[in-house]
Amino acid sequence: MNFHLLTLFPEAIKPYFDSSLLGKAQEKGIVKIFLHQLRDYATDKHCSVDDRPYGGGSGMILKPDVVVCAVRDLRQKHKIDRVILLSPRGALFTQAGARELSDIQSVLLICGRYEGVDQRAIDLVVDEELSIGDYVLSGGELAAAVVVDAVARLIPGVLGNEKATLDESHTVGAHGCAPLLEYPHYTRPEEFEGMKVPEVLLSGNHAEIEKWRREESLKITCKNRPDLLKKK
Ligand SMILES: C[S@@+](CC[C@H](N)C(=O)[O-])C[C@H]1O[C@@H](n2cnc3c(N)ncnc32)[C@H](O)[C@@H]1O
Repeated sequence: MNFHLLTLFPEAIKPYFDSSLLGKAQEKGIVKIFLHQLRDYATDKHCSVDDRPYGGGSGMILKPDVVVCAVRDLRQKHKIDRVILLSPRGALFTQAGARELSDIQSVLLICGRYEGVDQRAIDLVVDEELSIGDYVLSGGELAAAVVVDAVARLIPGVLGNEKATLDESHTVGAHGCAPLLEYPHYTRPEEFEGMKVPEVLLSGNHAEIEKWRREESLKITCKNRPDLLKKK
């Protein structure tokens, strides 16, 4: 899958993409991540990409001509299936959304800055606005990195163990029930600071282990995210 990012600050996120799982996925050629500098599309001699908002108010707005020109140019040069603007106003990015995106070939993620992007550019070239949560970041770079990471790890070959993504938090379980949060994990030693690994996990009884994990998932979901239990 190809991820194209349009940003004023590629250097802020490149190290993340080049390390660990995403770095390996790029080396293997399963994932390609292209960082495009928005300022390259500025047309005036000051290379300006933003301007003051009509109607007054604080902050600066990314100029429509610069954003539209960049997206059109990238669409001409690369096969891009979907253009997404990262925005706190967007629909909430979820695990289901990540899975849906992992099925497409190529996506362009626009990282906003300052007060955001001129609405006309959004109307002209953006397919979808996505938010990674109900808070405001100073730029779309971290949000785009979140989307790339969550989507890429669902692409076959990236994790090396696709089954691992099937019973994680926020993922519909094998029984088609509402997505729950994951059960607790334990590793060696069997006893740590007086706390023992639950007996059932040492029993070798897989049916009992599955039952215990399901109960623990329900308990933790009830405690931390009761809203999830109300969802279908
Ligand atoms: C300071 S924010 C702009 C906030 C905007 N004025 C508002 O109130 O909705 C600058 C940029 O950060 C990114 N951003 C901030 N919070 C985000 C979030 N929760 N999800 C996705 N992108 C976000 C967007 O690209 C946005 O254009």
